Parts: sequence; structure tokens; C-alpha cells
Amino acid sequence: MINVPKGTKDVLPADAYKWQHVENVAREQAKLYNYKEIRTPVFEHTELFLRGVGDTTDVVTKEMYTFKDKGDRSITLKPEGTAGVARSFIENGMASGALPAKMYYIIPAFRYERPQAGRLREFHQFGVEVFGASGAETDAEVISLADSLLKKLGVQVRLYINSIGCPTCRKAYNEALKAYFAPHLDGLCYDCKTRYEKNPLRLLDCKEEDCKKINADAPSILDHLCPDCKAHFEKLKSYLEEAGIEYTINDRIVRGLDYYTRTVFEFVSTAIGAQGTVCGGGRYDGLIEQLGGGAVPGVGFAVGIERLLMLIEKNGADVIKEEKPVVYFVGMDDDCRKKAFSLCLSLRAGGVWAETDHMSRSVKAQFKYADKLGAKYVAVLGGNELAEEKLSVKNMATGETESVSFQEVCTYFQEE
Ligand code: HAM
Repeated sequence: MINVPKGTKDVLPADAYKWQHVENVAREQAKLYNYKEIRTPVFEHTELFLRGVGDTTDVVTKEMYTFKDKGDRSITLKPEGTAGVARSFIENGMASGALPAKMYYIIPAFRYERPQAGRLREFHQFGVEVFGASGAETDAEVISLADSLLKKLGVQVRLYINSIGCPTCRKAYNEALKAYFAPHLDGLCYDCKTRYEKNPLRLLDCKEEDCKKINADAPSILDHLCPDCKAHFEKLKSYLEEAGIEYTINDRIVRGLDYYTRTVFEFVSTAIGAQGTVCGGGRYDGLIEQLGGGAVPGVGFAVGIERLLMLIEKNGADVIKEEKPVVYFVGMDDDCRKKAFSLCLSLRAGGVWAETDHMSRSVKAQFKYADKLGAKYVAVLGGNELAEEKLSVKNMATGETESVSFQEVCTYFQEE
């Protein structure tokens, strides 16, 4: 038997409605906030992620699915959505179109991580990106969109925000971090020793217990923000307060990707174990330039759909209602089955969700199957009904039966 690759999952037909519900709510929220969908390829040139996501991040150094294609090009399955959207923004000259450009996407993403609950190698994200607006009101809008989506789906999470400054204040902060960590170097993990040299901010992101202990007393970025970054952060807070969006400041949030500047944020749940970050995002004012475009600011987030579904299911198995067929046609013999088949087709053509027998089953077995499907009505067609050109329609919830003529059957169910 061939199994699914480690860290991947099938979405089975019995569960697909949950995904569709989340995707529909996400699309609806995106529309209300005036975001349009963008679809970019599943794979990109590896170079995009080296330059975009950053070559000191775990995602780039350890987790990418990278391979050579038959033309000897280095290709990578996208580990996240932002870099591809940024590439497309530049390549399609969107900077000279209407700004801000507000876009959303629903994508699979690939990271070679150690699988566990809520952590997969192929996972899915709903994400948004806004290009061209540098003010904190846009950060607040993006956060509000994530917040409204999560609320609409009924999940309980906490919003943490931070500012990691701009390259100017980051420089001074990195020096302060280095000075703090210098006497602790021996106690840090192997990766953190490299981080110390290349990108000290990453030290704060380490998940190793020993490093976390040392990190606890590290200086705070919030004490090192330049006046502009400070004002930006203050404005964000005031906008969130005005909108009634609760937040907690957490100066240890630096995010796992290198492109962020100023605002970073995460929505975290404590109900689904260690992988509790359902949504992460922030501002990335240098990304477009880093990828060869102009000086265009950006901000966005991505929600992990698997983690979101885990959280939704915590609220009870049937929080999301599955739609069921309206009517199942039971044919008692071959002639009746043939008529049931054509009636079923005319109902479908009229927009009614209908099903009939495919297995030449007995009447009893057909009723059983209709029950399994959860059909609201069962329409029975026997010899008498066929002769009189009508159906005996049973309401499965009440048990009541009604006689409905072939002519009327379509309107009867359309009105349901
Ligand atoms: P990220 O924090 O790497 O950010 O991922 C966003 C979300 O994707 C996480 O909060 C989590 O829910 C989900 N996720 C990440 N890795 C996995 C995994 N291995 N298995 C399951 N779920 C996972 C980004 O990807 C940024 N591009 C977000 C962004 C958009 N920032 C600005 N714009």
C-alpha cells in the first residue's frame, strides 16, 4: 500500500464542507474589506525566497522543498505566500496601478518540518497583503480583518502585537542584543551561535529551553525604537483601541521570517497545544525593494487553515453545518428507476440537490442509503405511481407523506 507522504493529509469528502465553510467566510470577509484574490504559482525560483524570506531563517535554511527541474533551474515549492505575491506585484507593474493594492490568497504551502499536531509539511494558508500604504491605520485594518475572520468563525484567540523597528533602530538594537548575549554565548544552542553573528534578532525566536531562559532578560526592542517607529506603534495601538480590538504587547514576538519591519503580530490560542499560533503577520516595508522593485511599503498576515479547523472543532463537532441533499428518488423496479433517473436530472437542471439509486438496490436499502445521505425528502416511485404519473414524497423529519405529480415535482422542491 502507498501512503500519503509524511506530514501531509487528505481532505476527505466527508470533511471538505468544513474547509469550504472556512474558505467561504474568508473570501467573504476579504471582499467586505475590499481585497481581491491573487493566484501565484505553487513553485517559484529558489532565489525569491533566499532574497525575500531571508537566508538566516529556519524556513530558508532548513525547511524548503527545493529541487532542480529538468532545465537545471533551482525551484522551490512556496513555503509561504508573501514573497510570491511581492514578486507578482513587481513583475506586473502594480506599483503604477491603483494603490494601495489589496490582495488575498488561499494557498498550499510547504515546509520540511518535524510533523506534529498543527504542524504539517504541506499546510494551507489564507493570507492578505497590502502594498503601497505605510501608515499604521493599514496595519490596524489588516489586524481587524484577521480579527473579524476569527470572530466570525467563533474561535477564541489572543492578539499579541509588537514593533521590531526599522533598519535604523534595528541596528542599535542588534548591538544591544549582542552586548547582552556575549557573556551567554556558551549557553546558547548551535543555531543561536550563528544567529548571534548573522542576525541577533533571530536569537529571540529560538524554541530551545536553555536559549529561552537566557532570552528572558534580553533588552526590549520597544526601548530602542526610533521616534518614527515609536509614533507608528503608538498610532497602531490607538487605532486598535478605537476599533475595540483587544491586544497584548509582547516584545518577544519577532516572527520567523526576515522581511518584517515595525509592526508584527500573532493571534495565539492555548487550546490546541504547542502549535497555537493560528495567524501571524506584520509590516514589511523593505521587501519590494529587496526583490528589485521600488520603495513600496507592505503589510499582511496569513492564517493557518489546519490550525484554524482544529480550533473550530474544539468548539464542538457540528459547529459548521453540513448541507444535505433535498431529495432522494427511490425506484421500485427497473422502469421506475429509469423514470426516477430522468426526474432526478430535471430537478438538478432546476437547481435542486437530488440523488437516486446507482446500485440497483432493494427499496429498503435505498431508504437506508437516503437516510445516510441525510436527504430531507425521499420520493418513491412504484408501479402505481408510474401509471398515475405522480410520486409519493416522504418528509424524513416528520414522517408525513404527500402525493406530488410529475409536472409539479420540480416546483415543489424548488420551493423547499
Ligand atoms: P508564518 O507565521 O510563517 O507567516 O505562517 C502563518 C501561519 O501559517 C502560522 O501562524 C500557522 O498558523 C501556519 N503555519 C505555518 N507553518 C505551518 C506548518 N508547518 N503547519 C501548519 N500550519 C503552519 C507567514 O507565512 C507569512 N507569509 C505571513 C504574512 C503575510 N506576513 C505578512 N504577510
